[in-house]
Amino acid sequence: MRIAFVGKGGSGKSALSALFVTYLSNKYPEKNVYAVDADLNIHLPRYLGFKLKSENFTYLSDSRSMQDIRNYLINKNTRIKHVDHFRKTTPPAIGSNIVDLTDKNNYIFKNYALNRKNIFLSVVGTYSKGKIGQSCYHDHLSIFENILSHSLDRNSYLVADMVAGIDAFSGSLYAQFDVLIVVVEPSRASFEVFDQYLDLAKEADIQDLIRVVGNKARSDDDVKYILKLISKKYLLGVFSYSKHVENVDRGIENLDLNKLEKNDFDVLANIDAYINKIVVDENSRLKRLYDVHRKYVSQDYVLKRYGDLISQIDNNFKF
Ligand SMILES: Nc1ncnc2c1ncn2[C@@H]1O[C@H](COP(=O)(O)OP(=O)(O)OP(=O)(O)O)[C@@H](O)[C@H]1O
Ligand SMILES: [Mg+2]
Repeated sequence: MRIAFVGKGGSGKSALSALFVTYLSNKYPEKNVYAVDADLNIHLPRYLGFKLKSENFTYLSDSRSMQDIRNYLINKNTRIKHVDHFRKTTPPAIGSNIVDLTDKNNYIFKNYALNRKNIFLSVVGTYSKGKIGQSCYHDHLSIFENILSHSLDRNSYLVADMVAGIDAFSGSLYAQFDVLIVVVEPSRASFEVFDQYLDLAKEADIQDLIRVVGNKARSDDDVKYILKLISKKYLLGVFSYSKHVENVDRGIENLDLNKLEKNDFDVLANIDAYINKIVVDENSRLKRLYDVHRKYVSQDYVLKRYGDLISQIDNNFKF
């Protein structure tokens, strides 16, 4: 099961991702919860109480990690002629290594994640010195797209704290989740971002994947404002402005769900109840990925640079 938190900058994607990861980890101790920070401003580890510096840890998007992960995923897939031809939309095929997120010792967890209890954390990574201005964040996200397209997550959870703005709709990302939760604050700008997402989602025919959580409501008026602007069919709840979340952000307290107001705990439970009803269907995700791949490979610059990559689609492959 894959859940992405998306939304306007500062709306609370990282805070809610961390809260929901903690919720899942507590409620389902026997399942793995894979938390992925996919934002160039890295905040998820801090909310979850992981220290990146003190441990031997590499970002997924470091160039050496990218090469290594891609080579691992390619394995015996002869449809990828060279690791440079492993593009963001390249699907798995017969011979590919598939990452099993139910396995605590899978290649990604072992080499690219920090671990505490049943929580595994990876960080896509930010710009390295000297590279600022040379690459865009899409390049970084492509390795995450590759991991998503080559992993199996039945009986486990993957929660992604996504980059702000509409980058979540670049490449194949949006096609690879089971639900995209848009976090909205009671502000006009936040709703504008939601409307933008909804338009993009309709265009990509994935509007069924969109849900909304309100955040940082300080009063009944804030709640009413959110209820007025978001249709009931999308809304999974409204989280309040929480003193505990503020204290976690300031490093005064560790995240502890017992310190939440009942209403806020119930919002997390409601998200869980919602996703529990979703039936994970890897093969329809795969079909969506094929569609995005077909579009990607038909672009002139891709054709010129890599030749025709349509043969990377292996119709005999099934998860
Ligand atoms: N429910 C809440 N109650 C109190 N403070 C909150 C709440 N949600 C988020 N915040 C605070 O608002 C700020 C932004 O939250 P957060 O970092 O989670 O947002 P974000 O959407 O991930 O931002 P960015 O786009 O920068 O990654 C932080 O200081 C965070 O602690
Ligand atoms: Mg964030």
